[in-house]
Amino acid sequence: MKQIRFLSLTLLGAAFIFGGCNQGAKNKSMIQKELIGTYKGKEVYQMTLKNKSGNVIRLTNFGARITWIEVPDKNGARENVAFGFDTFDGMIKGDPYFGAVVGRYANRIARGKFSLDGVGYSLALNNGPNSLHGGPGGWHSVVWESEIIKNAEFPTVKFSYKSPDMEEGYPGNMNIEVTYTWNDKNEIVIDYACTTDKKTVLNITNHAYFNLHGAGNGNILDHQLVIKASGFVPVDSTLIPTGEIRPVAGTPFDFTTPHTVGERIAENYDQLIYGKGYDHTFVLDNKEEVDASVYEPVSGRLMEVISDQPGVQFYCGNFLDGSKIGHGGKPYIYRSGLCLETGHFPDSPNHPDFPSTVLNPGETFKSQTIYRFSVK
Ligand code: GLA
Repeated sequence: MKQIRFLSLTLLGAAFIFGGCNQGAKNKSMIQKELIGTYKGKEVYQMTLKNKSGNVIRLTNFGARITWIEVPDKNGARENVAFGFDTFDGMIKGDPYFGAVVGRYANRIARGKFSLDGVGYSLALNNGPNSLHGGPGGWHSVVWESEIIKNAEFPTVKFSYKSPDMEEGYPGNMNIEVTYTWNDKNEIVIDYACTTDKKTVLNITNHAYFNLHGAGNGNILDHQLVIKASGFVPVDSTLIPTGEIRPVAGTPFDFTTPHTVGERIAENYDQLIYGKGYDHTFVLDNKEEVDASVYEPVSGRLMEVISDQPGVQFYCGNFLDGSKIGHGGKPYIYRSGLCLETGHFPDSPNHPDFPSTVLNPGETFKSQTIYRFSVK
């Protein structure tokens, strides 16, 4: 077990009861749930989860998102480090992926085509010639059911969604559950569980953007990154894997020891040119507990990523351009956020030698990713 369990002091709140029950109380964890709008006839809620250390994250059932992660710096000053929007409208019309759960197939499928048992499937093309992040109507864009888990050790919210057969072109009715736990070690523990009634493909992730200076406070080029990956997945100019797994040794993709994001990003290296920077899956060694970490020396904030998945997509906000105005009215400028999206490799359904992303009826896909926050 990666977490210490002890008695819960979680107080469960229906809409607006938070203030009445426990606000201001020290050393108590709690959840507040409030209605923030409706989307396509479904109610959208914001959940505020406070752990015993007094740190707060916010979630919403629109795209099963993380919208806020407020954690201290080395002097104890708290700041939100996750991208998101202050208003419901901002979120609905804003960047489709900030903090969202992405599926049915996170990342790209070449030309939106794959086949299973000789049957071909066609997906919407929403990224040049390719299909990206489950298509335009993917799981980031739907309203999920939400449930506050009573009597859990820590504030815990479960989102669930039933993805119908052929939704966005993918076969099989799928049941998806994503459970977020905000524990007292300042870990966001994300548990995924998925089943299907027909053979299908699945690559699920969370697409949070982080800036450890605080979201909206400049770029992330000074963040020191470690990824425990001896290899990465080179791509073509449309960001589809070439099929090669390339050793990172001797390349600007070697983050097995700490390097800042910006240190080698401007090098004349084919993959940095195709990716317009880093936008690649790293093949995790999976030999140590922590698979990746990001350290920002000014605040002293450290984020560690722990996953049971074969890969992590490191994307450094190359497509951010300042047009999205986020929390506190701050624009999210070029390379002002980074993502570490745990999961499988892009386009695996068309690469039989990559780890399989097939899910069969009768199987349950289970996976866990942890984002752990601390200072050093
Ligand atoms: C992923 C992709 C990027 C980009 C972002 C969303 O990380 O790999 O190319 O599409 O999502 O903007």
